[in-house]
Amino acid sequence: MTLAKLYHEGCSYPKRFNLPGMTLQARPPVYKDYPGRPVMTLPDPKTESPMSVLDTYRAWASGEGKDATTLSMTDLSRLLYYSQGISDTVQRPNFTFELRTAASAGALYPVNLYVLAERVDGLEPGLYYYHPKQAALIRLPNDMKAEALAGVSGSPDAIRRAPATVIYTATYGRTAFKYGDRSYRYVAMDTGHAAYNLAICAASMGLRAPLTARFDDARLQTMLGILPEEEGTLLIQPLGAPVEPKDAEPRFLPLPNKDSQGTFLDLIHGGTSLQRGKNIGPRLALPPADQPGKGRISLPVPARGGELHRTIRHRRSVRTYRGTPMPLDQLSALCAASTGYGNTPGYVDPFMSSTTPLDLYLMVRDVEGLKPGIYRYHPVDHSLELTKAGDFSNACMKAALQQEFCGTANVVFMKVVNWEDMAYPDGDRGYRYACLRAGLMGEGLYLQGTALGLGVCGVGAFEDGPIAKILDLEPAREACLYLTAVGMR
Ligand SMILES: Cc1cc2nc3c(=O)[nH]c(=O)nc-3n(C[C@H](O)[C@H](O)[C@H](O)COP(=O)(O)O)c2cc1C
Repeated sequence: MTLAKLYHEGCSYPKRFNLPGMTLQARPPVYKDYPGRPVMTLPDPKTESPMSVLDTYRAWASGEGKDATTLSMTDLSRLLYYSQGISDTVQRPNFTFELRTAASAGALYPVNLYVLAERVDGLEPGLYYYHPKQAALIRLPNDMKAEALAGVSGSPDAIRRAPATVIYTATYGRTAFKYGDRSYRYVAMDTGHAAYNLAICAASMGLRAPLTARFDDARLQTMLGILPEEEGTLLIQPLGAPVEPKDAEPRFLPLPNKDSQGTFLDLIHGGTSLQRGKNIGPRLALPPADQPGKGRISLPVPARGGELHRTIRHRRSVRTYRGTPMPLDQLSALCAASTGYGNTPGYVDPFMSSTTPLDLYLMVRDVEGLKPGIYRYHPVDHSLELTKAGDFSNACMKAALQQEFCGTANVVFMKVVNWEDMAYPDGDRGYRYACLRAGLMGEGLYLQGTALGLGVCGVGAFEDGPIAKILDLEPAREACLYLTAVGMR
């Protein structure tokens, strides 16, 4: 059994392994604190954009946009706010929840954003922590330079050319104190949610913002001065930088997980670490690309929906639906914003690390012009393939730990990883990439759904076996990572 599968099955609901888990007793604070360090308050980030979610997603996913030689503080402020800023507060008798612009499992917000500023007007070059509550950058003492970051990353040229680069880490304990071993899935998905928002906001400003998840973990952790048992490095996003060809720098090798304490966290994050090496690891076969097929249902031109920035500011998880059918052009827009545009001429995948896209399945309960059933979405020709007819809403609700909205949603989207394809080219590390991609797809659904006035909610809590059964997945070949329920409001 591969390590990724061991982890995934070990933290499947309801089965649990008896390995010591990553569950912590104490809940770490939701913001990091750097007493005595200089604090730079950021300019007001709120903006309007004439562009829609789909226009900006299409621009990002096609690598459109300009290379920037410098970045303004205002633009940086906007990008950080739309990724992880506070967009609402909820008062409860004993505490206040600060809700952010991107969704997060359990509203626990494990994601930290660091900015390596090289050429940002009005900002000294250096490493900064973005403090969402203070809407400020805190200058860190670390002496980090773009050249050094480029040296540990799989996409060095993009980082060298970017006026600023965002580094995503996750403080595991914020999520693990509640969700235990399953948290690793969630923190990577949360990171994908945050990165989607930043990516398409960058696109709305005409900036590129590609992603790389291929880097030397240990060296990046040292540069950031973080403790690997508490905080893991997950993603790098150079801003205003060109999309590099895939595998520009393939000299990475799996890092033997010598110091494993036997926890699931060591197992999955430690066990999927890479280090830069002289040799090139074994090349696995690239999975064949999807081809247009007969008997599929072509989706209509996607419905447009509202303006992007406002949509992000107003995005919330919605779990109550009205019970009217969903128009097919709205479904078309949801599919496109989640995973479409694989067929756009000149398409370059802005996820620069070689990773295989996930498959998107839909449990359709009530959509105009579609029979209830399970469908697979094909981005290559923007079509649906009916894989199984029938009403699976009740089974879906039961599998989602009785969360009622999964049974009343018009559609439940399901993101599926294929274990063999996932392993190209970085083996088990592909599991990280898959969870990041699941999060990117999930936030696409949130934003497009919100822009169309639909109710959307991510669902990470489900029994893995029953969901695989609904989809007729072969557990040896594939697994569902994440669901998203969408319904009419
Ligand atoms: C990876 C992930 C998993 C989630 N799983 C669930 C879930 O199982 N059930 C649920 O009701 N909400 C779930 N949510 C939604 C979060 O609870 C929600 O994003 C969070 O409370 C913040 O609220 P907001 O989305 O309105 O900003 C999930 C969100 C994410 C990103």
